[in-house]
Amino acid sequence: MDILIRPAEPTDYDLLGEITAQAYLQDGLLAFGDEDDWYFRELKNVAERAAEADVLVAAADDDRILGGVTYVPSGGPLAELARPGEAEIRMLAVAHEARGQGVGQALVQACIDRASAAGTGLVLCTQPTMHTAHRLYERLGFTRAPERDWHPIPGDDFTLLTYKLTL
Ligand SMILES: CC(C)(COP(=O)(O)OP(=O)(O)OC[C@H]1O[C@@H](n2cnc3c(N)ncnc32)[C@H](O)[C@@H]1OP(=O)(O)O)[C@@H](O)C(=O)NCCC(=O)NCCS
Repeated sequence: MDILIRPAEPTDYDLLGEITAQAYLQDGLLAFGDEDDWYFRELKNVAERAAEADVLVAAADDDRILGGVTYVPSGGPLAELARPGEAEIRMLAVAHEARGQGVGQALVQACIDRASAAGTGLVLCTQPTMHTAHRLYERLGFTRAPERDWHPIPGDDFTLLTYKLTL
């Protein structure tokens, strides 16, 4: 399958939001587990993140949307853990029916290409159970940065693991 990575258009926002939120919901990746979860609503809101970062989609030959990712350039307001000189990857998701064909890898590679062109490093955080994503990141050269793991929910042990790529 040919996969085209391109900036999300406003007409893609609803579908990409649904793919992203459902990917997390169906994989049991939401902290509170249902559609009332604040993160579910945030994942659906592509328009909001597209206003502050680069949202990329993966499209098939017939322009069907297969998944997407948010690339936060260095200094961008949506960064959660990037330091000066680092861009950040957020909200990577691929629709279930499109998985295992290199779509996720193409999306992450597009972020690497952007960071490389900008002369920055690249960081991301991921949940401990996202094993497919961890293999993908390691295949593309990311390494763990355990000293930068963090707890997003105050008073909760829930940990996000940090990966980084030095370019
Ligand atoms: C993580 C995620 C984005 C990966 O998407 P994907 O499109 O399936 O990723 P890829 O196809 O590039 O890689 C997945 C597997 O398919 C394999 N693959 C890739 N192209 C292939 C092909 N043409 N034929 C057969 N297998 C292939 C890869 O080697 C990889 O194998 P592995 O899991 O054994 O390491 C997807 O699983 C997802 O949306 N998960 C839920 C959300 C999530 O975890 N996001 C990460 C946030 S940090």
